[in-house]
Amino acid sequence: MPAARRREMPEARPSSRVLVTGGAGFIGSHLCARLLERGDEVVVLDDLSTGKRENLAEIDAANLSFVEGSVLDTELVDELVAASDRVFHLAAAVGVRLILDEPVRTLETNVEGTRAVLGAAARHGVRALFASSSEVYGRSDELPFQEDAAVVLGATSEPRWSYACSKAFGEWLAFAHARADGLDVRIVRFFNIVGQRQRGRYGMVLPNFVRQALADEPITVFGDGQQTRCFLHVGDAVDAVVRLSEEPRARGRVFNVGATREVAIGDLAALVRSELGSASPIVRMPYREAYGMSITDLPRRVPDVARLHACIGFTPRVSLEAAIHDVAEYEQSPRVTRRSGR
Ligand SMILES: NC(=O)c1ccc[n+]([C@@H]2O[C@H](COP(=O)([O-])OP(=O)(O)OC[C@H]3O[C@@H](n4cnc5c(N)ncnc54)[C@H](O)[C@@H]3O)[C@@H](O)[C@H]2O)c1
Repeated sequence: MPAARRREMPEARPSSRVLVTGGAGFIGSHLCARLLERGDEVVVLDDLSTGKRENLAEIDAANLSFVEGSVLDTELVDELVAASDRVFHLAAAVGVRLILDEPVRTLETNVEGTRAVLGAAARHGVRALFASSSEVYGRSDELPFQEDAAVVLGATSEPRWSYACSKAFGEWLAFAHARADGLDVRIVRFFNIVGQRQRGRYGMVLPNFVRQALADEPITVFGDGQQTRCFLHVGDAVDAVVRLSEEPRARGRVFNVGATREVAIGDLAALVRSELGSASPIVRMPYREAYGMSITDLPRRVPDVARLHACIGFTPRVSLEAAIHDVAEYEQSPRVTRRSGR
């Protein structure tokens, strides 16, 4: 066992013991809070590469255990999965900036880590939920994106598609284990989740816009600002995830988890500025300047949520405006160090 790994494991195995990989991250920490509220006992496995211990600090610690380690540690993963009733696999290398800066790590974490987690879940008969991404639709222009539509990726020489490919691999592996080993697995494709504790450092748009607006600095829109996205509050996303993990009809299926309000990024900048009463100018920056290389951005990304709605009756409750204020409140809280480029 690596010396750096810290273990704080409870001894007993209650009936609702849940493992959350990537639980110290943005979505993972909200998921942990929701599971604990419901009375589950939660074990987090996270290597703190993009997640932070502080993300779990406000959460009731009595039923929460934290294991600092990697999903690439197959022995550890096997041990933790075997001791769980359910596993939510969220650990991944995430964010355009990180994917471009660390292309090998992205592929290794997302492919090998998912292989370790799903393999262990299949061996031990533990129900799994895999966090995939809207990125798997790649450059498809068949909008809105429907779960069974073809995946259309770009050239292998363009590093940004490696993330999409790694998540698609995870989905194929999940379906393969379901068929070959009877694994009970559910897959969610998140579409631009936003809220407190998201970090802007790896290219996430809303925390960056909010931080710039709060500081009255220029709000930097990459590209022409016409590209659109649909933003879902993390509280709504976690709601969908927990319900899908329990719904028998979700077994062996993939679901888009997103909102359908389509917003151009240029308009998002203006909305952030007006919601926060900021004096920031809005400036455009070419992708080449922003990322140090030209990248293919997707003009539109809109989920078809009919399957999600039919399965669990899901409709988002939190507006984008409310999400902007949540992010602003978090950015202004004392624990956030603005100068660290979060
Ligand atoms: N935020 C979004 O809009 C979005 C969109 C699509 C998909 N997703 C997926 O949702 C999941 C959570 O994303 P997030 O936005 O919370 O990002 P995040 O970076 O906050 O969370 C990822 C977590 O995984 C951990 N991690 C990374 N490598 C690890 C390893 N080898 N072993 C253990 N832990 C490791 C990180 O430290 C971090 O805590 C990811 O799988 C991501 O691909 C998120």
